[in-house]
Amino acid sequence: MASDKAWGGVFSEATDRRVEEFTESVSFDRRLYAHDIAGSTAHARMLAKVGLLSPDECQQIEQSLEQIRQKIEQGSFQFSAELEDIHMHIERALIDRLGDTGRKLHTGRSRNDQVSTDMRLWVRESIDRIDCRLADLQRAFVARCDADADCILPGYTHMQRAQPVLAAHYWLAYCEKLHRDRSRLADCRRRTNVLSLGAAALAGTSLPIDRDEVARQLGFDGVAANSLDVSSDRDFVLEFAFALAVIAEHLSTWAEEWILWSTWDFSFLKLPQAFCTGSSIMPQKVNPDVLELIRGKTARVIGNLQALLVLVKGLPLAYNRDLQEDKQPLFDSFDTVEASLALAAPLVAGTELNRPAVAERLERGHLDATALMEHLIRRGIPQRTAHGLIGRLVRTALDRNVRLADLSLDDFREVHSELDESVYEVLGVENAGKAMSSYGSTAPWAVAKQIAHWKDLLECGDA
Ligand code: ARG
Repeated sequence: MASDKAWGGVFSEATDRRVEEFTESVSFDRRLYAHDIAGSTAHARMLAKVGLLSPDECQQIEQSLEQIRQKIEQGSFQFSAELEDIHMHIERALIDRLGDTGRKLHTGRSRNDQVSTDMRLWVRESIDRIDCRLADLQRAFVARCDADADCILPGYTHMQRAQPVLAAHYWLAYCEKLHRDRSRLADCRRRTNVLSLGAAALAGTSLPIDRDEVARQLGFDGVAANSLDVSSDRDFVLEFAFALAVIAEHLSTWAEEWILWSTWDFSFLKLPQAFCTGSSIMPQKVNPDVLELIRGKTARVIGNLQALLVLVKGLPLAYNRDLQEDKQPLFDSFDTVEASLALAAPLVAGTELNRPAVAERLERGHLDATALMEHLIRRGIPQRTAHGLIGRLVRTALDRNVRLADLSLDDFREVHSELDESVYEVLGVENAGKAMSSYGSTAPWAVAKQIAHWKDLLECGDA
């Protein structure tokens, strides 16, 4: 026989060595070994149930698959490019152990539905892992809220000082983003958790398989209804890659903000030294490398999504070997985001707010101007008019290099007769923050309610 491949019957020539090297995927799809074995075990049990395997054959297959799993985990399993992928490796090891019984496992299935099933199992598990990491990070933000409860920070738009915001309001803003990330994952999980096995190569099989039984054993919520569709479907891979890219974007935004806030110029934050590195030439430097790399690695996660979208673009139905290229980008996105999340939570927990440095400069920048404008609006002055009047007051304060609260009653009266001593009740960052009253605002009562909500949702204890 010229070819000893599983598919070699029709071949009269052996595969070129260079082709083996080029087409192999076992160097990266070996991480699907446990999912492949789980899928094969469920498949074998089903085959026994419908009479395509004897109970004894099924038991032998199950036992051998378990031994192969252990061997892989112990690191004593031999991988080689000749056997292409993880599916072939496990099947060959089974045949080496069981002979003809092992040769029966591939009954009523193809590698096309097998690899899709393995990937769905892997994505499902990976979604759950990322979800746990996201919840940990949310808890780290919520845990800061009590400690930083009375701390006010400048809020920015266009990177210009805008309005005062409670530190807890900042932390909970990230909780919201991470919450949407989790709900995106949950959504993706629903469409992932569908059985593809039984689609066989593309058309289904004439053998009396029971797909519902396999779905039940593997914990899938349903069975894919169209064999042609499911053997080509990688939407779940794209969706997971997208959800990971949005998580990476959120982490990158946070990292960028904290990099700025930890600079000497801002001095809002003191990052834990264990999460920083130094410079080989400038002895005074403590650099936020972890945050920079979280931000930097986001580029690759976005690139992976792009690669996957382009990969499936224009592929005709059903399986095409191009689809083998879905794994490296997706695995890389998962590994990168998981590693970033694993560092983000302790970084959030270990960072200190530099309250004196914040307090010292908080009254600069006229962060209370909007609260003063709304004070006028409450007295019936049209918003556009009030905006102009307060703008004039800000100009006066800028000219004198003072705060709005330092202007005299006469200064205010000169601008508008409705401005009396009550203006001082909304001036100053603390008053301006307290003046907020809308749902979702940075008003202390609103933030306190949100903290309680998140503690309850994340089971943080003392809600
Ligand atoms: N290694 C392949 C992949 O990841 C498995 C499926 C191969 N199927 C085939 N007909 N050659 O896509």
